Amino acid sequence: MAKITKAVFPVAGMGTRFLPATKASPKEMMPVVDKPLIQHAVEEAVAAGMTEMIFVTGRGKRAIEDHFDTAYELETELTGRGKRELLSVVQNVIPRRVSCTYVRQPQALGLGHAILCAMPVVGNVPFAVVLADDLIDADPPALAQMAAVYKDAGCSVVAVQKIPRRQTRQYGIVETKRRAGARQRITGIVEKPDPRRAPSNLAVVGRYVLTPAIFRHLRRVKPGAGGEIQLTDGIASLLREEEVLACEFDGTRYDCGSKLGYLQANLAFAMKHPEVGPEFRNYMRKMGCRIRN
Ligand code: G1P
Repeated sequence: MAKITKAVFPVAGMGTRFLPATKASPKEMMPVVDKPLIQHAVEEAVAAGMTEMIFVTGRGKRAIEDHFDTAYELETELTGRGKRELLSVVQNVIPRRVSCTYVRQPQALGLGHAILCAMPVVGNVPFAVVLADDLIDADPPALAQMAAVYKDAGCSVVAVQKIPRRQTRQYGIVETKRRAGARQRITGIVEKPDPRRAPSNLAVVGRYVLTPAIFRHLRRVKPGAGGEIQLTDGIASLLREEEVLACEFDGTRYDCGSKLGYLQANLAFAMKHPEVGPEFRNYMRKMGCRIRN
């Protein structure tokens, strides 16, 4: 099975849920402790063996391009001041062998449309899609778990997680048929259904491995939930033609598109941060929290 080398990051969204923080800077640049969300996402893709990062950007997203570019002035300044460790942090935001390409989504027409904008750069090979809002703490990383399923099965793979039924309106929801082992074949998928109509409580999390056939389906998809071209609808069409598997990954997912999820992610990552972790855990204990180790 061909190795997946390309990862698409749709980053054109406005991030209205974090205003005013996102008034003049992209939501993907919001840090979890000291690393922007988009860097966490890129690191996950790199850890899964991917080497070509494709960002689908929009207005006001220049900071993302700058983040993954060389920062000459900053590097000169840090070199001059002998700050070797910081220099290495700045230089190693992304490994040198990894390339970044930026394509623009001219209008916010939905996630499916964003993926279509990446088509000329992706070409006719399978690829991953990573939504930086969903921060996943997992070992091995969620995308690596999915790449392993792809390697074995050779078809599209969608990450899923059980959610409380009352939350189905926030997610794509899948209907599955359990096959041998833990593998589940998706038999239906709907975007943000009402809890009474949801086919299950298995929700799509922002990680996908897709065959290039998805582009053909996305081109035909009509605006769906919220009047947008939905990736979910493209997948619903794809699975009439090809097998699509659901991967219930091992790991914890933080919904950093919501204030609560973002705060929870910061707390969890701060507690195990090499520099501030021990002191932060002490602080939490002083605040009356019971913390393991
Ligand atoms: C998108 C997808 C949805 C998926 C979710 C995961 O929705 O359309 O199917 O469940 O990401 O985070 P959004 O959160 O962009 O509204």
